[in-house]
Amino acid sequence: MTTTDRYGVMGYPVSHSRSPVIHRLFALQTGQNIQYELLQITPEKLSVAVRQFQRTGGKGLNITVPHKTEVTKLCDHLSERAATAGAANTLSFRDGEIRGDNTDGIGLLRDLVINLGVTLEGANILILGAGGATRGIVGPLVEMQPRSLCIANRTLEKGQILADHFAQSGPVSACRFDLVPVAEQYDLIINATSAGVTGDVPPYPAAAISPGTLCYDLSYGLKPTPFSVWAREQGAERSIMGWGMLVEQAAESFHIWRGVRPNTAPVLKQMKITA
Ligand code: ATR
Repeated sequence: MTTTDRYGVMGYPVSHSRSPVIHRLFALQTGQNIQYELLQITPEKLSVAVRQFQRTGGKGLNITVPHKTEVTKLCDHLSERAATAGAANTLSFRDGEIRGDNTDGIGLLRDLVINLGVTLEGANILILGAGGATRGIVGPLVEMQPRSLCIANRTLEKGQILADHFAQSGPVSACRFDLVPVAEQYDLIINATSAGVTGDVPPYPAAAISPGTLCYDLSYGLKPTPFSVWAREQGAERSIMGWGMLVEQAAESFHIWRGVRPNTAPVLKQMKITA
């Protein structure tokens, strides 16, 4: 008889997380014998909780808000993409060590390129927000050689720090919402602010949207997010929520842990219906 390997997601709050459902579906589909728990852990308890999970034989964890940055301090090894992002969403426990990785960026890329058929090479990209979510996606997006990547943020300094950090890798700049350059059309606008959580619609740059712009919200819900409603109102023909990124980043974690890549299409379909 094979043993059941333990995995889980740590966050605070975490009760809304879809990760247990997604990983159970992956396990069912690929015949992997795993159990996946929901672990609500406050920031003060993070270190103790991670080490306890490791000590009691846990094999891997997903890490979500607000722990993704803090958890990097507990890792013995960080992948290059986690180091670049300064954040980890996937931990693996092997040989007494904690390995941190970040699958958010690749998850977004796979959703954009494979699921949605977006061409990123030569594209003009605008990212709204300059927090942890943005830090995880700028590196992978820049690697796709866009024509431009502008980070617009309420607080210019935070956007500027990120733009400076990535400026050596590609054409990355920063600006405020009211000064977004609109000389050329944007092919892709990504909402990476956390404003939608509170139902807010900040003064996003309406002039940056043209009918062909793909508007992508990293947030997702059963109802359209405030950003996706706003984007449609501004005339965007395609306004998409981040369900695909959620499922794709989970598939990357599953692959790291189990060495098997699940088929994401049926899981994504099921998530959108039953979430
Ligand atoms: P996350 O890890 O989700 O990115 P974060 O690091 O706290 O969370 O960053 C939140 C981002 O959303 C920031 O870019 C923040 O803007 P500031 O840097 O100016 O704080 C942005 N944000 C949150 N609420 C916002 C609002 N009501 N209007 C505009 N931007 C908002």
